[in-house]
Formats: sequence, structure tokens, C-alpha cells
Amino acid sequence: MLVRVRFPPRLLKHKMIKYSTRVAIILKNIVIKIPVTRRGYLQGVHEKRMWDKYKDTVSLAELKWMFAGIVCQKRYQNDLQNIPVNIVKAYKSKISEFDFENCDLHNPKNWGYDEQGYVLLDYGINQYIASLY
Ligand SMILES: Nc1ncnc2c1ncn2[C@@H]1O[C@H](COP(=O)(O)OP(=O)(O)O)[C@@H](O)[C@H]1O
Ligand SMILES: [Mg+2]
Repeated sequence: MLVRVRFPPRLLKHKMIKYSTRVAIILKNIVIKIPVTRRGYLQGVHEKRMWDKYKDTVSLAELKWMFAGIVCQKRYQNDLQNIPVNIVKAYKSKISEFDFENCDLHNPKNWGYDEQGYVLLDYGINQYIASLY
């Protein structure tokens, strides 16, 4: 399904709003991700579940709250060109939900970083949700 959302060109140019299955509104210190599809909604709900389950296992973007599929996270630097394969391998081995083909973990757009190192931003996925489209 193709979803079109119109924003003032200024906001898109400065990349303060990004969208695919969710619209991400990038503010100074936080990011709010609003689902625009059913898959986006499931991702939001699952992101909270994954945060509760794995926040002490790997470095995930701090989830401040989730309500009705809308997720609020701390904002991280997000201008990486690539992610080392050993980082992706480590996350896949620790998080069984990510251990499937076509998992989006290789995409640097889904990663950020802070002083401590890499931080995964987009973790509301599993094999079922990824299969939706
Ligand atoms: N916590 C965050 N800090 C900075 N940028 C973020 C953060 N979360 C998401 N983004 C940006 O918004 C984009 C879309 O968010 P993402 O979580 O990947 O949602 P989806 O891919 O499900 O639409 C990301 O590719 C990234 O560029
Ligand atoms: Mg993403």
C-alpha cells in the first residue's frame, strides 16, 4: 500500500520529518513515531515489548513512552553510513526476534549512536511484522 503524507517542503528538506511505515517527528531531544499503517502500529506496540525485554541486553534507543502504537524515544545522532557486520551479528545472536532473513538490521538508517557507541533506533520488528509488506 502506498501512503502519501504531505509536509511543508522546509520540514522535509531539513529532515525533521521522516516516514515509511511510521512518521517520525524529530524534535531537539526526542523523536515521536506515529504509525500510518497497520504494520506501523504493530511495530510501535512491539517496540515497547522489545524495550522491556531487551533494554539491559543490548543498546536500544531509550523508549520514553508508548501509547496506542505511538512511540516516543530519546533522539540520537543518526548519520551513519554503514553498520559493522559484527554489530549486526551480535544483536541477532542476542535477540531471537531479529534472527531471520531480510531483517532490516543492516540498514544504517535504523541506527544511531551516542558516546557509548551504536544504538538501535528501529527495533519494533519481528518475522511476522516484517512479512506484512
Ligand atoms: N531515536 C531516534 N533518534 C534519531 N532519529 C531517529 C530515531 N528514531 C527514528 N529516527 C529516524 O526516523 C527514521 C524512521 O524511524 P524508524 O524507527 O526506522 O521507523 P520505521 O522504519 O518503522 O518507519 C529512522 O530511519 C531515523 O532516521
Ligand atoms: Mg526503519
